[in-house]
Amino acid sequence: MKRTDYCGRIDRRFLDQTVTLTGWVHRRRDHGGVIFIDLRDREGLVQVVCDPDRAATFTIAESLRNEYCIEVTGRVRPRPPGTVNASLVSGEIEVLAHELVVLNASATPPFQLDDENLSETVRLTHRVIDLRRPQMQKNLLLRYRTAMSARRYLDAQGFIDIETPMLYKSTPEGAREFLVPSRLHHGQFYALPQSPQLFKQMLMVAGFDRYYQITKCFRDEDLRADRQPEFTQIDIETSFLGELEIRALMEGLVRTMWKEALGVDLPDPFPIATYAEVMHKYGSDKPDLRIPLELTELTDLMRTVDFKVFRAAADLPNGRVAALRVPGGGTLTRKELDDYAAFVKIYGAGGLAYIKVNDVTRANEEGLQSPVVKFLPEPVLREILARTQAANGDVIFFGADRDKVVNDALGALRAKVGHDRGLATEGWKPLWVVDFPMFEYDDERKAWAARHHPFTAPKDGHEDRFSSDPAHALAKAYDVVMNGWEIGGGSVRIHRSDVQQKVFAALGIAPDDQRKKFGFLLDALQYGAPPHGGIAFGLDRIVTLMCGAESIRDVIAFPKTQRGQDLLVDAPSAVTEPQLRDLHIRVRASDSMKAE
Ligand code: AMO
Ligand code: AMP
Repeated sequence: MKRTDYCGRIDRRFLDQTVTLTGWVHRRRDHGGVIFIDLRDREGLVQVVCDPDRAATFTIAESLRNEYCIEVTGRVRPRPPGTVNASLVSGEIEVLAHELVVLNASATPPFQLDDENLSETVRLTHRVIDLRRPQMQKNLLLRYRTAMSARRYLDAQGFIDIETPMLYKSTPEGAREFLVPSRLHHGQFYALPQSPQLFKQMLMVAGFDRYYQITKCFRDEDLRADRQPEFTQIDIETSFLGELEIRALMEGLVRTMWKEALGVDLPDPFPIATYAEVMHKYGSDKPDLRIPLELTELTDLMRTVDFKVFRAAADLPNGRVAALRVPGGGTLTRKELDDYAAFVKIYGAGGLAYIKVNDVTRANEEGLQSPVVKFLPEPVLREILARTQAANGDVIFFGADRDKVVNDALGALRAKVGHDRGLATEGWKPLWVVDFPMFEYDDERKAWAARHHPFTAPKDGHEDRFSSDPAHALAKAYDVVMNGWEIGGGSVRIHRSDVQQKVFAALGIAPDDQRKKFGFLLDALQYGAPPHGGIAFGLDRIVTLMCGAESIRDVIAFPKTQRGQDLLVDAPSAVTEPQLRDLHIRVRASDSMKAE
């Protein structure tokens, strides 16, 4: 190859050398007889100068348009004083072109690469051009470096990469699955894996000891900024280690990724909090610890008042009344307060009572400005002020409802107000959340469901609670949270067939169903399955955080839209009748078609 190096790497070291570069015309500027070309490749930009002395080269330069793919040979020289660009690696030099070759012309691009106001539809429809943008090149490079860093760490720790099937079987593990019809087996389906969970456990039973894989997972869920229907996990499993040892090993991985990809030293060790603690303090199991706000418990206090909204919630068996004090929040306008009230309604809250603290020494309508103060006796108000450590000029918000609603609403409000008011600190705040409940109640199905997944081991001593007190059975499950995002989750697994059957039973899976769905697992566990456990990290989320991007779509080369479409290739799309026939499938008339 003729190329000397990447455009973005040409600097003073190359002064007076003749170099050959390839790339795309980022911009062409005509300056009174001299033409400047910003030539771009994956590593960055370099300035190319064409002067009219070389007529042939100059004529070609005049014909260049944005995004033409070209090759340039020329001499590296210093930029004239005053034109140095300190923000570029190549900012001190320029290349005086001797020869220019158009490798391929370009149609006019659908948008300017430096346009900051592109809609996502435009970007995803023209993803190839969108990916040429320097920011996207940086993001995907950082993604690669992060993945490589994970591979190096895991390899050094003795983990081996083993591939697991993409054509798997439909199992009730949590999210809705993508199904793949079988041609050879009439009426039967594969499912795309939600994760390689059971394969990695079976690899442990098979004796591979330490496994990892950077692999796609598929979940047919409602999409959000931090969710894609296909996403990538750094999936890990190890045998013969306990929860603490697994967490230490995995914390090392996170620390290594941040160090190698960003040069950042994360705290050592990461702080640890139990699920119960974080729900109590932050109303969320993935609290953003950059925000210095905490909830205050008031449930017990509100059992003593007459004010119906608070009293009724406090008296519920699973009720909660909590407060969120925002320092300096007394300046919030009526409209801002109304907007926050509308915001918490998204989470099911019935309202958002508040108290503006004008004078803490007067715990009544004189010192406190609020729609609810008149319903609360002075000693209660004094206690609220004391517990929240309120000061003049603060606002205190209240949530009163079932604990889930209060936690969701005040947890989200905490993050929102914290960011809105610029209270979040800079930097990285990792956290281990541990001791998750084994089960959570699914109101729709009216049954217990696994909080993590049904293969998670109970905490020591909690085995007996499955049937007697499922709400309080805790699991050896843990999440890694970073700046308010759940970036990884895992657990110690059940390695005994009898315990696994007890958990299935607690989840309402009858014995014959257990065999049909998970017989392969129950069988494998019978042959000397070693104690084992692991974790999976969401690579897309990790890189999104590292890039400071808003959505995981900005770190995935070819992502799906919020509606699950790939606008570039136009998927999903209809298929032909013969294809369907091969698969023994007939498409039903949709409800809207039936209505016609
Ligand atoms: P879990 O379901 O918690 O655990 O997933 C692990 C991590 O994957 C990421 N993640 C996602 N990222 C983008 N889009 C999605 N739709 C999405 N869903 C999950 C998150 C999450 O923390 N088998 C277990 C792991 C184990 O127990 O070892 C599992 O899949 O960052
Ligand atoms: P109401 O008596 O319904 O007018 O409510 C009085 C105040 O309590 C209003 O400021 C409401 O926004 C607030 N409020 C109502 N329901 C709740 C709730 N579940 N949690 C917190 N505040 C509430």
